[in-house]
Amino acid sequence: MTEPDPALRALIENRSGPLRALTATAHGHGSDLTALAEGEGGTVFVKAMRNRAGGRRASLLREIALAPYLPPLAPPLEWAETGETGGQHGWVVGAWTAVEGRPADLRPGSTDLDRVVGVVRRVGDLPVPDGAAEWAESRWDRFAPPTDVTAFRGQALLYTDWHPANLILGTDSTWLVDWSWPTVGAAYISPALLVVELVAAGHAPAEAEGVVAGCPSWYEAPPMALDAFADAHARMCRAAAGRRPGEAWLAAVARAAADWAAHRAGIPLPLS
Ligand SMILES: Nc1ncnc2c1ncn2[C@@H]1O[C@H](COP(=O)(O)OP(=O)(O)O)[C@@H](O)[C@H]1O
Ligand SMILES: [Mg+2]
Repeated sequence: MTEPDPALRALIENRSGPLRALTATAHGHGSDLTALAEGEGGTVFVKAMRNRAGGRRASLLREIALAPYLPPLAPPLEWAETGETGGQHGWVVGAWTAVEGRPADLRPGSTDLDRVVGVVRRVGDLPVPDGAAEWAESRWDRFAPPTDVTAFRGQALLYTDWHPANLILGTDSTWLVDWSWPTVGAAYISPALLVVELVAAGHAPAEAEGVVAGCPSWYEAPPMALDAFADAHARMCRAAAGRRPGEAWLAAVARAAADWAAHRAGIPLPLS
């Protein structure tokens, strides 16, 4: 059993009853705790952050605020404690219905790709909840010339973290979890970021674009907007990889983003 901070355990037990088991998830990064918590009433997935100022706390609060609008695409939020009550001021915790499944296989030829594309379409169909209208996407702005940034603006709720473990493939359902930094911007940004993840998983850029070709949020995008975004994203990923040179996965994502941007710019890729 994972042993959390006593204040966090108390906070979870306030809601779940005495814990029989608390098992850290195999995947996930960035949160102070992601675990399956088995209490009296069954098992929930819990995600917790220390309740101190900083990006990750704000991120979990945003994920909790958005949660009512996402099912059945994401599992339902069962409860949340944001530290204002109960005396456990040290933590913010959300608990979602635990679902069973496996991570998506994004490699070329994978039979999961149809299900993944179905998820991207469903993301494109989500309405923007009232409170989310001010979550304007701006992360790519500083990597683009000022004339390009209007191409990143839009009125769509965006999903930007297409890690294979954030797609949970169950027997009959497919869930998209980890809505940790949802924003509102140009609808094509969600499928575009999946394209980069597909390239990182081994697809050639043109093939990866082919995978999402049937998604309205992709094919309705002006090609020049996609070109501008690909360029800005490659710069952003290169900067991230440069800041943390020891992280092989960042280098791999930067390479994939650069390959996609080169494809958009019509530059032939070197044979490798
Ligand atoms: N509702 C859930 N039921 C079961 N497993 C989940 C659930 N939500 C997330 N997971 C698993 O836990 C992992 C970590 O959760 P995630 O929200 O991605 O946290 P992080 O923000 O730390 O990456 C996910 O990649 C997924 O494999
Ligand atoms: Mg995750």
